[in-house]
This record gives sequence, C-alpha cells and structure tokens, in this order.
Amino acid sequence: MLCYHPKDGGRGMIKRLFQSKGRPDAKEPAGTSVEAEGVPKHVAIIMDGNGRWAREHGLPRVAGHHTGMNNVREITMAADRLGVKVLTLYAFSTENWKRPKDEVDYLMSLPQEFFPKMIGELEEKNVQVRMMGHRELLPEQTLQTVEEAVKRTESNTGLVLNFAFNYGGRKEILHSVQRLMEEAASGAVRADQLDESLFRQYLLSGDLPDPDLLIRTSGEIRLSNFMLWQLAYAELWFTDVFWPDFTEEHFQRAIHDYQKRVRRYGGL
Ligand code: IPE
Ligand code: IPE
Ligand code: MG
Repeated sequence: MLCYHPKDGGRGMIKRLFQSKGRPDAKEPAGTSVEAEGVPKHVAIIMDGNGRWAREHGLPRVAGHHTGMNNVREITMAADRLGVKVLTLYAFSTENWKRPKDEVDYLMSLPQEFFPKMIGELEEKNVQVRMMGHRELLPEQTLQTVEEAVKRTESNTGLVLNFAFNYGGRKEILHSVQRLMEEAASGAVRADQLDESLFRQYLLSGDLPDPDLLIRTSGEIRLSNFMLWQLAYAELWFTDVFWPDFTEEHFQRAIHDYQKRVRRYGGL
C-alpha cells in the first residue's frame, strides 16, 4: 500500500506502509491509534478499485461493486465509532454513464439492495442519509429508494452519510453559476454580494462543512471531478488498497496520518 504525504514536501513522498494485499505490514511499527482530539469532522472517500478487485478474484466487475457496497456498511459504522461527523462517499460520477449499460444498470440497482438491508441499522445509529448529486438520468425506482432513505432519516442528528451519486464537480459549479445568473437577472442577487459564503450555498453540499480529509483507494492519484470547490484545502490520502479490501484499520491509519499533518491554509 502506498501513502502519499504532501507534508514531506516531495522528499520521500511515497512511503510503503502496507503490503499490497492491504494487510498491515507486520514489520510496520504500531502507532496507528486515533487521538480523540482532532478527528476530521468531514471525511470524503473516492471508493475506487471495485473492478480491479473483481478481476484479481476472477470475478465479474459487478461482483466487485457488490462487495464494495457491503464495505460501505463497515466504513460507515467505523466512521461513526471514530467520531467523524460527515462521511461523503463517491458512489457514481457524472462520467460513469460512459460505462457499459449492464454495469451502469447494476450500479443503479444497488441502492435498492443497500437501503432496505441497512435502513434499520442506520436509524438505530441515528445516521442521517443525504444525497449529493444530479437527479436527472437516475432511474425512477433508484431515486425513489434513495429519497425514501433520506426522508426516513432526515431528523436524525448523528453521523451524516452523504452519498455523491450521479455527482460531478464541474457540473455542480456550472449549475450553481447558472442559478446565480438567473437570480442576478431577476434582481434577487447583486454581483457585488457574491462571496465564498454566498457561493457555497448554491453548491450541492449545501450546509455541510468542506471535507477535512479526502481518501482515495485503488492507487489512482486524481480527483476524477470530485468536490472541486470543497476540496480546496482538504488533506489528501491515497492508498493502493482496492475499496472492497479497505478496512477500519486502513481508515484509522488515514485518520492517524491526518492528525500528524499541519494545516496552514497559506499561513505560517
Ligand atoms: C469504483 O470502482 C466504483 C465506481 C466508479 C462506481 P471502479 O468500478 O472504478 O473500479 P476500477 O477502477 O475499474 O477497478
Ligand atoms: C471515480 O472513480 C468515481 C467513483 C469512485 C464513483 P472512476 O473509476 O470513475 O475514476 P477514473 O475513471 O479512474 O478517473
Ligand atoms: Mg475506477
């Protein structure tokens, strides 16, 4: 497993922490404990590598998506135990429509399996489900299932479980600008009123704070159009582990590393 440490300033940026199968390296010293102070409020995860996980196991890609879906439960519960307030999971991007229809259809059917199975536990844990994405193109039944879960949990006050589903960062920004332009034309907003705090109200993330920590699994070191505005000052953490193999232990390691970072926001 590879971890990317921007803090190293380019020297020894990549450090081998775990063996490639995603299990902690026995030679790696202990010390991944998470401090109660300084747990990131908002963690965003690009859950990548389902397809390659399946290939490695000689299975069809959809089997990787299914195992990946089950892992959402594990990591959600871990986030809750660790004291994370918001967990945003990138589940389907606006670019993922380019995939073969069978795979897209399967991905669109997953909420109908996930929510009925999970809703009881989510309610019991006081989890509030949200959806951050574009409603267009989503099959009626899929949207209905997600919206039902959102509605059923809307008054919960615990962990916010925010699914980025049919989400694209550029589309989100363009959409926000469009709405602002319409409001400017109607006189509801003046150009000189526009600042960051006004602009963020137009984004799909609404009242959520920006992610403090971004995790991407599977070894890809890119954002893939994810939360382009909101990630401006997030700490980034990458691992080679495929999403279905990403465990609470890896999650704790990411938070442990985050807690050692110094966030300067351009200051000293
Ligand atoms: C992430 O896994 C899930 C989605 C994008 C929906 P991938 O399907 O991208 O898996 P890889 O990257 O092909 O291994
Ligand atoms: C990003 O993964 C989207 C999700 C995890 C939902 P992709 O697998 O689609 O990203 P690229 O194509 O490698 O950039
Ligand atoms: Mg991928």
